[in-house]
Amino acid sequence: MADTSVRTPGEKCPTCGQPSPSKESKTETGRFKAGLEDVVAGTSSVCLVDGIEGRLLYRGYNIVDLAEQSTFSEVAYLLWYGRLPGKKEFAQFDKTFRSYVELPEETGMILRLFPRAATPMEVLRTAVSSLGHYDPDSGNTAHDASLRKAMRLTARIGSIVTAHERLRQGLEPIKPVPGESIAYNFLYTLKGEKPEPLFVKILDLCLILHADHEWNASTFAARVTAATMSDMYSSVTSAIGTLKGPLHGGANEAVMKVLLEIGEVGKAKEWVKDALARKVKIPGFGHRVYKTEDPRATVLRKYAEQLGKHTGQSKWYEISRLVDQEMLEYTQREGKKIYPNVDFYSASVYYTMGIPTQLFTPIFAVSRISGWTAHILEQWENNRLIRPRAEYTGPLRLPYVPIDQRG
Ligand SMILES: CC(C)(COP(=O)(O)OP(=O)(O)OC[C@H]1O[C@@H](n2cnc3c(N)ncnc32)[C@H](O)[C@@H]1OP(=O)(O)O)[C@@H](O)C(=O)NCCC(=O)NCCS
Repeated sequence: MADTSVRTPGEKCPTCGQPSPSKESKTETGRFKAGLEDVVAGTSSVCLVDGIEGRLLYRGYNIVDLAEQSTFSEVAYLLWYGRLPGKKEFAQFDKTFRSYVELPEETGMILRLFPRAATPMEVLRTAVSSLGHYDPDSGNTAHDASLRKAMRLTARIGSIVTAHERLRQGLEPIKPVPGESIAYNFLYTLKGEKPEPLFVKILDLCLILHADHEWNASTFAARVTAATMSDMYSSVTSAIGTLKGPLHGGANEAVMKVLLEIGEVGKAKEWVKDALARKVKIPGFGHRVYKTEDPRATVLRKYAEQLGKHTGQSKWYEISRLVDQEMLEYTQREGKKIYPNVDFYSASVYYTMGIPTQLFTPIFAVSRISGWTAHILEQWENNRLIRPRAEYTGPLRLPYVPIDQRG
């Protein structure tokens, strides 16, 4: 009988040459971290996530300042160019950026071919990939061309989401207005009517808050693809596929399901107590990096309240606030404080604006595309193939038996 054992204790690992700590060691051996937790995989000047202080900086600027005073378009510039623009150069940039919002006709046609059951994130993945065929800079790998591709992608991705949503509802897509912002056009092409200025402002703010978050899973996926010197569209398609997973981009939709399930302000606290007693993980809470409140949640809480008052629909904000308070009080009593993350208040904000729940994760992509492309550009500035190793845990000395001698 062949020895199919993984490795005997002390035997050298065929990957790293170090002795195996024990025969049972199939998970963490000290040479790697499951899920690469806290592993620093490279350097970047795009974004700092300070989990201890609860700070998030884009290119050195605090997102609280950017959310209050900047625009998504200016933040995209900041992420791509590494600095804030001067007035004149921003006016020129913004005009060009806004002019890219319309989809190529062919992508509009592709959107009509998807089956009804196709989810918005699946459609986004395929449609974004298709955009690469119609980009005039396709195949041009110069830095300037890559910047133009980043601008076109970022301007167009929202147009894909809303056009497909209208088709799903049996409605004709609406052409975006080239001179308007991404947030304006998202709401306009979704509903077919001029959006309220406060909705545009708050959606723009949400796009700022979601624009980048260091080497999260989708950004890492984009960088891995870019590091093979594949193209920008392929890199972004990898990122969208990664964001789609419920452990990454899907939490904001799950938050809204919870709020709808609670349904009434008076039921919020009891719901939380019951869920926590049953050890249920409540979506929109907790974070791998932040040990205090996610600064994006702090900003969004304020605007969720403002939006609730403005629309006369404070219920979703009020339920959210009570869940938030109860969660902190309950977990504090247990000796751990669990705070809301960015997904928590974004759910009630989007819902109050009348955005369908299934578009919450795609909106994440509408914003994060700016960060993905900034990271792809950074990867190409000083590229090295990203190719880690795996500690081999399979059998070692299996004798090959030809197929005609097997049962
Ligand atoms: C974000 C998340 C995946 C981080 O996971 P993590 O770093 O592995 O943290 P853990 O799951 O080990 O949580 C640590 C402790 O806090 C508790 N906890 C964390 N998030 C919680 C939540 N959302 N609801 C209730 N308890 C939670 C865990 O039960 C655990 O308690 P224990 O030590 O008594 O077992 C996790 O907090 C989560 O699943 N949150 C809900 C989904 C979500 O909002 N995702 C979007 C993130 S931006």
